[in-house]
Amino acid sequence: MSKVLILNGPNLSRLGSREPEVYGSATYTDLVSSCTALGAELGLDVDVRQTNDEAELISWIHEAVDGKVNVVLNPAAFTHYSYALRDACAMISGSGAKMIEVHISNPHAREAFRHNSVISAVATGVIAGFGIDSYLLALRQLAH
Ligand code: DQA
Repeated sequence: MSKVLILNGPNLSRLGSREPEVYGSATYTDLVSSCTALGAELGLDVDVRQTNDEAELISWIHEAVDGKVNVVLNPAAFTHYSYALRDACAMISGSGAKMIEVHISNPHAREAFRHNSVISAVATGVIAGFGIDSYLLALRQLAH
């Protein structure tokens, strides 16, 4: 079974109660269940994780690089300023694995500081604005 790491950055554990008008009412637990269920249907071994810690997120990217594991990444606010995370993500494509950047909201329709992603240029592709379906679309693409 092909493995996929679904990695979530800061504050995403608060889904459901955090700005529901922006991020919807689905909780982080709902996100984990939906991704795990679709992964099983698609024959993917899905491992969903969340951290508020940039160093931990980077160490998970290193794990993906070393294992040539495909990644679905919601970098959350790190999207907009973490060059360290970007440098780690740049190693994924070099390993032959894929990394899809996902966002629940559409950052381009929001505040100006969210319009730039320092991650997108090293992503295989980007899916944004479809709520937690953004993750499910990414999984379908990786299974494709
Ligand atoms: C987000 C968008 C980011 O701008 C924000 O900082 C997040 C969530 C999204 O999924 O829409 O925390 O990545």
